[in-house]
Amino acid sequence: MKTEIGTDTEKAAAILSAGKLVAIPTETVYGLAGNALNEEAVHLIFRIKNRPLGNPLIIHLHDADQLNKLVTQIPEAAKKLMQLFSPGPLTYLLPKSALVPDVITAGSPLVAVRFPEHPLTRELLKRLPYPLAAPSANKYTTVSPTQVSHVYKQFKDEIDYILDGGDCKKGIESTVIGFEGNDILIYRHGIVTEEQLTSAGFKVRYADRTTGPVHSPGQAALHYSPKTPLTICGDLEKEALKHKDENIAVIAFSKMIYGIPSDRQFVLSEKANPEEAASRLYTALHLMDELNAKIILTELLPETGVGKAVNDRLKRASAKGL
Ligand code: TXA
Ligand code: MG
Repeated sequence: MKTEIGTDTEKAAAILSAGKLVAIPTETVYGLAGNALNEEAVHLIFRIKNRPLGNPLIIHLHDADQLNKLVTQIPEAAKKLMQLFSPGPLTYLLPKSALVPDVITAGSPLVAVRFPEHPLTRELLKRLPYPLAAPSANKYTTVSPTQVSHVYKQFKDEIDYILDGGDCKKGIESTVIGFEGNDILIYRHGIVTEEQLTSAGFKVRYADRTTGPVHSPGQAALHYSPKTPLTICGDLEKEALKHKDENIAVIAFSKMIYGIPSDRQFVLSEKANPEEAASRLYTALHLMDELNAKIILTELLPETGVGKAVNDRLKRASAKGL
């Protein structure tokens, strides 16, 4: 099949209703979407993405009416956060109803739901009589897509349609949270920051792989990885200059390194703005990966705000094993 790229939500809806897949734009990254209530379409997502069936998918919704059919209970804390952050890059883990196929949640009693903000995807969701299951539109463990070209590179001619919503504005994935009493557990750092959740009046904890009450397979160490090995440096300039005559590439937070060819480095944000750095992170990883360098050298951002989510992605991209 030949992949078509366009902005036609009616066409996208027809393809989805035939049980096939469409790549959709969101404010965070592109998603690989299928009818969440059609088990075969959901299996197709896992298969095309090469994703193990043990790693559950997020369901994307247009409005609260859809949500009420998919979950059996919505804690007060979730209701409050939905008013503050939805539509937007926050994903809620809630007790699933019988309508949600077990394959979506990998057998867990909790389902992940979010209301994406991108206008084209909202238009698509509004047209559909069912919600969309969608992981990020990249092959398992590789770098997530923030541009149509990233999706096309990975899935060309494996999917029928890419809904072209331009470049993703936020650039890294949603924050995944669960609830314990009135407290919030962060399962994945993302665009909505711990500070924002705390300012909303909640106690917030990070549920890591071992202490979290629910296992969230997306916390696997190796993830978001370019083909080229990536190393995080404490002193990036010093390391880069030490290896300047070798075939290296550099992703710097805010400062260009003199002495390294400019086409072999990518500055995430000249203004040292973490939001801007997040929005350009995956583009940087895609581009520097294409240079066929021996190694990509990079550095962490200050560990506050969205810097935490960027650092989390960099650490996983550099991890050596699962
Ligand atoms: O921004 C995003 O969230 C993007 C866009 C496309 O919406 N989606 C995305 O999906 O990042 P994916 O599949 O690449 O990551 C989903 C994350 C994984 O870490 C997964 O383990 C976790 O959410 N997750 C999904 N359902 C879960 C569940 N029922 N229980 C625990 N974790 C879950
Ligand atoms: Mg992903």
